Amino acid sequence: MGLGITVYLFITTALAGLCYFAKKWLEFRKLPPGPWGIPILGYLPFMIFRNPLTAFPEFKKRYGKVFSMTLGDFRVVVINDYKLINEAYRQDVFMGRPAFVAQMTRNHGQKRGLLFSEGQVWVEQRRFALRNLRNFGFGKHSMESQLLYEAQELMTFFKENQGKPIGLRNKFNASVLNSLWYISTGTRFGVDDPNFLFMIDSFINNMQKLELTGLVYFFPWILKNTDIFIKGFWENFLRSRDRIQGLIRNCIEEHKKTYDDSDVRDFIDAMIAKWKSTNDPKSSFYKDEGDLNMLLVLVDLFLAGAETTSSTLQWAMLYMITFPEIQTKVQQEIDAAIGSSRLPSLEDRPGMIYTEATLNEVHRFCSLVPCSVFHNTLEDAELAGYHIPKDTVILANLRDAHYDKEYWGDPENFRPERFIDETGTKIVRHDAFMPFSAGKRTCLGDQLAKDSLFIFFTCLMQKFRVARDPNAGELSMEPNAPTLIVAPKPFDIVVTSRN
Ligand code: HEM
Repeated sequence: MGLGITVYLFITTALAGLCYFAKKWLEFRKLPPGPWGIPILGYLPFMIFRNPLTAFPEFKKRYGKVFSMTLGDFRVVVINDYKLINEAYRQDVFMGRPAFVAQMTRNHGQKRGLLFSEGQVWVEQRRFALRNLRNFGFGKHSMESQLLYEAQELMTFFKENQGKPIGLRNKFNASVLNSLWYISTGTRFGVDDPNFLFMIDSFINNMQKLELTGLVYFFPWILKNTDIFIKGFWENFLRSRDRIQGLIRNCIEEHKKTYDDSDVRDFIDAMIAKWKSTNDPKSSFYKDEGDLNMLLVLVDLFLAGAETTSSTLQWAMLYMITFPEIQTKVQQEIDAAIGSSRLPSLEDRPGMIYTEATLNEVHRFCSLVPCSVFHNTLEDAELAGYHIPKDTVILANLRDAHYDKEYWGDPENFRPERFIDETGTKIVRHDAFMPFSAGKRTCLGDQLAKDSLFIFFTCLMQKFRVARDPNAGELSMEPNAPTLIVAPKPFDIVVTSRN
């Protein structure tokens, strides 16, 4: 009898084990194909020396539209097709964010805030931010006067420096960050404020070190366990995290001291109101957790909004210099629609089809966030007949969508006309055009980004002709090594007044 039970237990355990391994094997066989790597590190050592923007199109040819690889501690799937990106990012199961050490450390150990949160925290914080930022002009015309103020400050600087080489990077960054700071806090920084300069500098520097398929994301062990290369980076990362979060924290504390229920002055006040009125311990707005989310939502807005908009403006200048005939056409449209005696306004936008099409082409051509922000599967998922297990990092290759030859015909040409219909009066919508990503997690600041770009770009084009610095070499259209975003290599412009 005892022996019978033992045999029975043995057989059922063996069968259960067999079923488990058979299921795993079938799942493994249904994983998207891709390059093999080496034990422990997977394909990471090979990607460190490769530019993903050139490697991914090669892999697409070899393995198909969806391929996978192991990078260090993570399984990664790359989607290289605009239809499949749309299909995946419509589904809740693809809406997670990976638990990268850098982001988790920045977020004090959990998925908080907007950019790197998921689940209930993300739903609550995103909904609240979208609704309340709008009340303070975010993505609305009332934001316009603030954008125009910043643009004019920039124009004054350009006027004073006509004929001299001007480095754009910090200039654009400062204007964009100040407009975001204003909506959130009701104040703006002086351009020489050391805290402001530090913030701009550390956003750029930290961003530049986070290579898209590099060690910092995929093999974080190296961050803290080696003195070679990256140790300095990690200490700097922590120092700048503490200083930036300290600055924003002070701002929140100041707001709390002067907070008045009957006078909600800005976005921070709106968050304080929500935080004070939340009694549900499960809510991401509740007490200490709510306080931390408040801080991280603000950090995310500045991080996601400043460097992206400012780098897109730099690309726009680079293209206007490289394609001067397009610059001329934009300026002709501005002269006809606005003239030179008044400032541009968002009201002008619907009638300025060529300028709008040019800005769309800037987005497409630079594909600023080439693989979107990393997503993560929250459960097992299916895509294009492949099995994608829970906790797989997903890269949506937006650059592939923007350079899809079958779709665009001549994607390597900078040609704003592709966004204008045959009557010349309407902007054409393209399914493969997705600079702000797709689906449920699409960029939260897309409207503000479009408005800011329109105002800064038209103000500049109205007042100045831009050209390259004649004493510097040829301008490179090649991007810097890709991080989450692809910034142009630093360059100077020379401006001359048009009127
Ligand atoms: C040219 C400018 C911009 C570009 C190209 C851009 C692009 C993107 C992309 C591709 C994503 C990733 C979406 C995804 O995960 O699938 C994103 C997310 C995000 N963006 Fe933007 N963005 C820009 C400007 C802004 C601005 C001005 C703000 C606001 C201050 C902003 C706030 C955010 C936020 C909060 C997220 C995270 C959304 C979420 O996780 O739910 N972005 N953006």
